[in-house]
Amino acid sequence: MSATGDGPARHLVVVGLMGAGKTTVGALCAERLRRPFVDTDDLVAATAHRSVAEIFAEDGEAAFRELERRAVADACASPDPLVIACGGGAVLDPENRRALRTHGCVVWLRAAPQVLAERVGADGSGRPLLARGDASSVLERLDAERSAAYEGVAHATVDTDQKDADAVADAVIEELTRCAA
Ligand code: S3P
Repeated sequence: MSATGDGPARHLVVVGLMGAGKTTVGALCAERLRRPFVDTDDLVAATAHRSVAEIFAEDGEAAFRELERRAVADACASPDPLVIACGGGAVLDPENRRALRTHGCVVWLRAAPQVLAERVGADGSGRPLLARGDASSVLERLDAERSAAYEGVAHATVDTDQKDADAVADAVIEELTRCAA
């Protein structure tokens, strides 16, 4: 089945919570597919000339989400097929979900909150939402709040708990092949 309804999906999009491996796996997939890799957090930071943490601290989350919406739209509009890694909260916006699903094959990298907490480490690797409390509890809450959105936007799901990045990239590319069939 085509993801766009009028041809094979153009972009490969990876979504999931913080620590799911979107950046690592996205970059691996891009290398294997010989496609450019785009991370929406990097696009936002480049546009704002500030880090994501600085944008959250100085302008607040709503301002970040607005920049993120623009980054998602810009990435989706690329005429070249990309691999796009979306910041974990991008799927909360219905307009983002619609754009990603229309222009890409969307794969949800799913992991248990405890596994995600281990991956992001005690300091949350500079992620503002994880600085708001114990990473494990924040990720449990976000998992409960967001799972339906990930499920809704995704054409496929890859469970990453027991896999290393290479195995996840293999599974994601297999899903892309199915999307494009
Ligand atoms: C966020 C995830 C982060 C970043 C921002 C907010 C979220 O991206 O966009 O800190 O709401 O889950 P990663 O998922 O790439 O860490």
